[in-house]
Amino acid sequence: MDYQAQYQEYKALADAALNTYFADTAMSYHRLLEAMHYSLTAGGKRLRPVLVLAFCAACGGDVRAALPIACAVEMVHTYSLIHDDLPCMDNDDLRRGKPTNHVIYGECTATLAGDALQAEAFRTILSTDLPVEVRAECARLLAEAAGESGICGGQQLDMEGKVLTKEELMDINDRKTSAMIHAACLMGVTCGGGNAQQRAAAAQYAKALGLAFQIRDDMLDVISTEAELGKPIGSDAREGENTFMALYGLERCSAYVHELSEEAAAAVDGVFANSAFLRQLAR
Ligand code: IPE
Ligand code: IPE
Ligand code: MG
Ligand code: MG
Ligand code: MG
Repeated sequence: MDYQAQYQEYKALADAALNTYFADTAMSYHRLLEAMHYSLTAGGKRLRPVLVLAFCAACGGDVRAALPIACAVEMVHTYSLIHDDLPCMDNDDLRRGKPTNHVIYGECTATLAGDALQAEAFRTILSTDLPVEVRAECARLLAEAAGESGICGGQQLDMEGKVLTKEELMDINDRKTSAMIHAACLMGVTCGGGNAQQRAAAAQYAKALGLAFQIRDDMLDVISTEAELGKPIGSDAREGENTFMALYGLERCSAYVHELSEEAAAAVDGVFANSAFLRQLAR
């Protein structure tokens, strides 16, 4: 199967599964569920679920059994986007081509939808039929990526808004973006029963891909369009954010993304029975 078709197959599996969560409208607090369902099904590239499924497959595991794990990563990612868009954070009104959660549901419900999505991610992992050690390790990986040393720590530094050195910017990106990508890759290896060498390769891949991904995101905030991204452009400059674009400019960012993508591709080469999809994804 070619790369695009394989990506679409993984994405379709994730989309279909995600669509089944929080769809109950009979609850007294159904507005909260609607808000959760709204953002979870609003679109998105589904990169993190695809990484879970692809690493599971690369280790020879059962992709369908890993599907709830893939959904859990997307729940935490989606919560982080809902909160990232809030007026007290990046104050954005468009996400995944639709009005942001707080624009539709208000700030209180949007905050609670994020809170609940985060907790439900852990319930989802811990309620699967996977072996208990697999569930525990996946929950640990996700907690590590979401907590103080991951997304929250990274977002804290991001919002402090100081002028930063390259090292400080990398530290923010490692936490706010690479950490979740790392969790997704390692959860995939965990579901697939991968060995120590495969775990190490997945970690290396994730570090390079995660950094490339955030640099590219910073580039797109300048050079892309709202229609293509489904989120506002120019948001970083407006909020005075420290980005790789501000630090390096377009040309150096572009070269750096290319270099990091190749580094990610090289990290998985020869370590899995078939790493073609993972290499192509990085590129
Ligand atoms: C956006 O993530 C936030 C960053 C970490 C840069 P994505 O670019 O993966 O957003 P979706 O999930 O496709 O909407
Ligand atoms: C957000 O980074 C990373 C998260 C942890 C959500 P950005 O603020 O650059 O993400 P976008 O550009 O709004 O998607
Ligand atoms: Mg932000
Ligand atoms: Mg933002
Ligand atoms: Mg951005």
